[in-house]
Formats: sequence, C-alpha cells, structure tokens
Amino acid sequence: MSRDGDRGAAAPGSGILGPTLGLRGRLLTPVTGAGDSAVRYLDDALLVVEGGRIARVEPFAPVTARGAGAAGASGVAGAFTGPVLDLRPAVLVPGFVDTHVHFPQTRVVGQAGAPLLEWLERTIFPEEARFRSEAYARAVAPEFTFSLAAAGTTTACIFGSSDERATDLLFEALAASGLRALAGVTLMDQRCPDALRVPREAAMAACARLAERWHGHDAGRLGFAVTPRFALSCSRALMEDAARFAEERGLLVQTHVAENLAEGVAVLAEHPFAEDYLGIYEAVGLVGKRTLLAHAIHLSGHEWDRVAARGASIAHCPDSNFFLGSGRMRLREARARGVAVGLGSDVAAGRSFDLRRAMAYAYDNALCLGDRLRAQELFTLATLGGARALGLDGVTGSLEVGKEADVLAVELPDHAEGEDALLAQLAFADAGRVTRAWVRGVGVYARR
Ligand code: GUN
Ligand code: ZN
Repeated sequence: MSRDGDRGAAAPGSGILGPTLGLRGRLLTPVTGAGDSAVRYLDDALLVVEGGRIARVEPFAPVTARGAGAAGASGVAGAFTGPVLDLRPAVLVPGFVDTHVHFPQTRVVGQAGAPLLEWLERTIFPEEARFRSEAYARAVAPEFTFSLAAAGTTTACIFGSSDERATDLLFEALAASGLRALAGVTLMDQRCPDALRVPREAAMAACARLAERWHGHDAGRLGFAVTPRFALSCSRALMEDAARFAEERGLLVQTHVAENLAEGVAVLAEHPFAEDYLGIYEAVGLVGKRTLLAHAIHLSGHEWDRVAARGASIAHCPDSNFFLGSGRMRLREARARGVAVGLGSDVAAGRSFDLRRAMAYAYDNALCLGDRLRAQELFTLATLGGARALGLDGVTGSLEVGKEADVLAVELPDHAEGEDALLAQLAFADAGRVTRAWVRGVGVYARR
C-alpha cells in the first residue's frame, strides 16, 4: 500500500491535514440533492484538493489560460497553478462507501454452501473465534484494510470482532491505512460459542474503552459504531444497554435485520415480547436516525413504514443475499419512503470486497423483482447513497466542492466514451481497475 500524498498544512479550522494537489482526468460524480441518479460528467476535468478538501471541480483549461490571477478558459478567476497529476485516460470518481463488511471474515470469503444460521455455525463462528489470538488479529487487520483500499473503498462501516483487543487492532490498522471508517466490537452475549460470547457488562466496558480511544480519531476520520450482531445473539438487556450507550454519545448503531426466514422465526421465539423483527429493535431503543439496518429482505410493509418514520437507513447487500440464498431486498419499498440506502459487500457472505460487484448484483436483485435500475442509480448507491446512509454525505460520497477529497482513479477501456459507456463499464464490466485512491487527498492505495 502506498501513502503517496504529502501531509501538508492543516486547513484553517478544519483540523484536517492534506496536500494541495490538482488531479486531471475524466470525471464522474453523483450530485448531492439531485435525486437517485443525477450524475455530473466532465471528459477532461481538473479537481483541486486543498487542505484535504475539494476546492475546485471544473473543466480543465491549459496552463496558458490558467495563469495566476487571471480568469482561465473555465471562467474561474485565480485559477489553480499548483502541481497537477495527469491521470488521463483514467476516470476520477468518488471513493466507494461500503456500508456493511465484517473484519473477522476476511479469510473465509466464498465459503458458503448453507443458509445463514448453518453458515454462521459451521464457517463463521469458528473463524471469528480465531481472533481471540492477538497474533491472528494482527495478521489479518492489514489484509482487511488493504482489501478495502484495493477495491476502491475509501469509507467502510465495519463489524469488528467480539474480542476487544482484536477490534482495537482493527482500529490501529485503519488508523495506519488512511481509510475512513466506522467500526465497533461485535456484541454477542448468547446463542454463540463460548469463545465468542462476551457478557453484557464486559462488552459494554469494552465499548466504552474503544469509543474513548477511537471515536473521532484523526479529525473524525474514524468513528466508533455500536454493533449488536443481531437479535438472536444478543439478550434484551445487552441491546438495551447498547441503545443507551449509543444514544448518550450520539453514535451510529449497526445490526442485521430480516435477512433470512428461519432467522426471523428464531429471533421472535427468542424475544417473544415483539410482534415482528423490527419491533424487537424498536422495543429496546435501537432504531433511530443513526441506525443502519443490514439486509432488510423480509420486512413487511408496516415495518418499512416504521423504518422510514424513525429515519433509519439500510445497508443493501445483494451479493451476500444471492450467495446465502437469503432472498431479494425490495429496494422500491425503501425508495418509495425516502429511506437512505447504501451498498454493502457483506464480506464474507458477500464474495468480494469490490463494490462494483455489489452494483451488478443490485441490478440483478432489482431485475428479479421486475425493476430495472440504471447504472447512474447503482453508481449513486455505491457512493453518495452509502455516505447518506452513514450520515457522512456532508463529508464524502461525491466529488463536489467543500467535501473531503476521497477520490479514485479508475482505468476503464479507452473505447468507452461518455457518461453512459463509462458507467456501464464501471457497474457491469470487469475490465476496469482502481489504480489510485486518496482519502482527504492523501494516497491510500496505488496499484503496482
Ligand atoms: N447475521 C448475524 N451475523 C451475520 C453475519 O456475520 N453475516 C450475515 N450475512 N448475517 C449475519
Ligand atoms: Zn453482515
């Protein structure tokens, strides 16, 4: 992994470090506040990063027309005269936002062959138990962050280990990687092997220490997320404590909901006080504006209404849903109610860290339900949609002035010209390669 950006002076008042840098290339970005599929395309763009933020996005003008203090060909006074990295014919896009991924499943990608509950027992719990070994967690953490960066994921929302030390090592690796992330210790105090079970008081004490150490790290690049695994592996008391902890500190909550039919039956048998799956989380106080619910396949219309009314968001994980045979998520239910949706790789139920794969599977998922998504919509889901679902759309998810400079250079075939052809390549073809990635203008990945 390369960290090729200079750490320049802090932008006044922002606390963010980063270089002053111009990037030149073709450029595609979703546009904030313009619906699910508004995309801006420039076939020769200059993107200027100052103090880690995007200072300009404009058509490139030759240097003679960009003279210091003069109005350039773009019509912008005081045009940029600093160093410009010419990345053409690469396409500049916002870094991908993976709203749902599991750190301790990094090494078991592709090992499915069973529905959710059997897969957890047979494959996932034994692997996650290995993270009680500090040496194992220390070895896997950089593999995980490298896999994210190499896939072009610059922001991730992560389920850590149930082990505090392993999750601390994950945060250390994230801090070193330069990536933007939210992560939490995965809470589970029942219905799991002893090696993974952490009693409520010990688990909440671990949350307090990790949140204290990591929440807001590096001017907010890292954050702590309260992470009850799902209603089956959490007692009511643990979920109530987790909800209170999140509420008191204003933290994001992430969990799984309504992924699999057998799971739905089991959670209601475990928590008979609720009428439906969402009702369990509502009763313990876990559903609010800072709640991210993964999967949401088997929600009723009434549950969808309540997701919307409470302002919760959805991590749509179509690759995982196909691979485990969990079912099809009805994206149109979310759309109709204005619920924020991002894409999740859900490694290791998802087979790839690459959110471009998730884009293609989101298309297939919608098609199975009779809906045909446009590549523009898929691109927005993988970027700005995810940022919105995480409450980070003021910070990342698009290449717009004022946002932090989380940018990818993607090589796509030269014959692909124009917005539609490029987006088709990005979402559906496998010829494209992420060659560079920056977070706040600092390099986090460079392909060898
Ligand atoms: N539900 C509870 N735990 C998990 C997990 O690790 N992966 C998936 N896909 N669903 C879950
Ligand atoms: Zn998951």
